[in-house]
Amino acid sequence: MIPPQVIDKIFDVAPIEEVVGEYVTLKRAGANYKGLCPFHDDKSPSMSVSPSKGIFKCFSCGQGGNIFQFIMEHEGLSYPLAIKHLADRYNIPIEEEDIDVDELQEEARIKEGVYVCLEFAKKHFYERLNDSQDGKVVYKPYLTERGINQQTIDKFQIGLSGTEKSHLLNEGLKNGYTVQQLFDAGLVKKINEDQGIIESNLRDTFIERIVFPIYNVSGKVLGFGGRIIKKDTKAPKYLNSPETIVYEKRKQLYGLSISKNQIRKSDQVFLVEGYMDVVSLNQSGVENVVAASGTAFTEEQARLLKRFTHNITMLFDGDVAGVNASLKHISTLLEAGLNVRVALFPEGEDPDSFIQKRGTAEFQSYVSEKAQNFIELISEIKLGENKHDPINKAEAARAIAENIASIPDPLKRAAFINETATSLEIPERILIDEVNKFKLDNRKQKERETRREARQEERNIADGPPPGFDYVPDFTEFKSPEALNVDKVNYQELELLRNLILYADREFDEEQNVAQFIFKELEEDEIWPMDDEYSLIFKEALEYLTEDNVLNELYFIRNPKTSKIAADALSVKYSLSKGWEENFEKIVKTDEDNYKRQVVENLNYVKLKHIDILMTENQEGLKTAETEEDISIYQNVHTNLQEIRKKITDQIGTVILR
Ligand code: CTP
Ligand code: MN
Repeated sequence: MIPPQVIDKIFDVAPIEEVVGEYVTLKRAGANYKGLCPFHDDKSPSMSVSPSKGIFKCFSCGQGGNIFQFIMEHEGLSYPLAIKHLADRYNIPIEEEDIDVDELQEEARIKEGVYVCLEFAKKHFYERLNDSQDGKVVYKPYLTERGINQQTIDKFQIGLSGTEKSHLLNEGLKNGYTVQQLFDAGLVKKINEDQGIIESNLRDTFIERIVFPIYNVSGKVLGFGGRIIKKDTKAPKYLNSPETIVYEKRKQLYGLSISKNQIRKSDQVFLVEGYMDVVSLNQSGVENVVAASGTAFTEEQARLLKRFTHNITMLFDGDVAGVNASLKHISTLLEAGLNVRVALFPEGEDPDSFIQKRGTAEFQSYVSEKAQNFIELISEIKLGENKHDPINKAEAARAIAENIASIPDPLKRAAFINETATSLEIPERILIDEVNKFKLDNRKQKERETRREARQEERNIADGPPPGFDYVPDFTEFKSPEALNVDKVNYQELELLRNLILYADREFDEEQNVAQFIFKELEEDEIWPMDDEYSLIFKEALEYLTEDNVLNELYFIRNPKTSKIAADALSVKYSLSKGWEENFEKIVKTDEDNYKRQVVENLNYVKLKHIDILMTENQEGLKTAETEEDISIYQNVHTNLQEIRKKITDQIGTVILR
């Protein structure tokens, strides 16, 4: 168990806007912040963050909670590991033995092992580059020759792998990591694919390479990119960590954890091809830069960037490969709603070599002069020297139209169509037709994919439900999410809990506050929430209150069992826009002022639900009753329950109608 004092301390020193702000750019909106929700494909900022309450809430996908929920969801960690993550981040000491491994899910436990293993490898490689003979005599001089100084080595924690086959394997084992962990981390690989993960069948992944640690957006090491410096070898120049349980390549961008603040500040990012480009530009003072590092640029990477800026400039080599790469990336970026520009470097130059040769100022002016939007780029490539060749023009127009079709914003589409029409001297109407054709194609393509997935789904269902399930859901009948919730959730009890969260410490009458009133009522009527989850929450809250603590919304926000519900309940108020408040001020006021009425009403609904259940049970008993006496007892109970029921419904009626 992690001591509650540690958790409280974290709450005290880790402002939610800072925790969330590590992953998402937040803009102030009144007392709160708004940003793009990282938990779904958010088109406009749907996530609200409240510094005063310490909660986040997405009004589109429903995610919400306190700082720990955010980290759990975002980093895929269990609760104890999310606590550890933030404790580390804010330098709050936490004893290893306080983290109860039994609390951790199997996967979280494996992940945590992999993370510490990677962190160990990073440190070890870094020390080797700086302290070993090889490092000092061969590898560091190579970096120095390429213009990389110590400060930059430190900033990126660049390191040096072992030079023999099982250097890291041995070091790792010596330091207490298991072969399985080293293997899961991608640091060692099998010699013989068909044999198992045993020491004799493993060797280092990185041998004789300068290694660049690859971090996720919050700065955790996920893997490495390794560069060989020997020239006389058939080995590939760069070798990257394999995909692992922590490293999903399509979701990461090299350099982002280091550059994100500068990207935010400049509202602009440079996308380059390689590790050395990122490192070298950073050293020259251009810090808003990331690399996709050899992989195709994905939708997920576009979305990741979009959290920090909408403006992206690709800096690629002007050779055929570079041009093709940039063309391939463009539609992915446009589709994500990003503003894309491309600056191509003279053939054979990359951003690294260019800035090293010509300096930062010349680099800056080159980029701003050369950066083109995709229309200019495609025109230049397709038209070449022959600006008026009709065939080239048609080809250019088609390629541009295809890209315009992937832009989600209709206004931007219109503006780009207009620009293309002017620059290629082609009637706008024809371009619009062409764009629409591509849009239709895209849609059909998407529909085909959806159908294929649906068919796959059907096949899965046709295979029969898993053992123990004899109920196959009927997808033909549409149900709103709310309707589904009502089925699952004890709606009345949830509403009462929301009232408790919102109003616990408010005055109910001279003698008691709302929490005291609710618990007194429940006790007097011998009623307790039936839902297991809510039952436990109420029980703990009552205990907390009985120990003379102040039970208020803060308790529910910080309690991991309730923080999501609290975020939800407390955010309803935030969602009211200014216009709403002006136009519907009365309703809002009424709601706020009548919290007592709400509490009484919800208590009554909870009671009513209980009585209905008791009545049903009683009816069942009546059916099977055998003696006269039994029958009359059941009938008496029925009459009593009916009376209580009537009293409650009458009260609900008066409350509602008043
Ligand atoms: N790359 C890779 N595997 C290779 C070659 C390249 O993964 N065999 C990736 C690396 O991320 C590399 C990027 O593609 O950084 C660009 O490759 P390249 O242009 O060949 O290398 P540079 O970044 O220019 O590296 P250097 O300057 O060290 O030659
Ligand atoms: Mn290079």
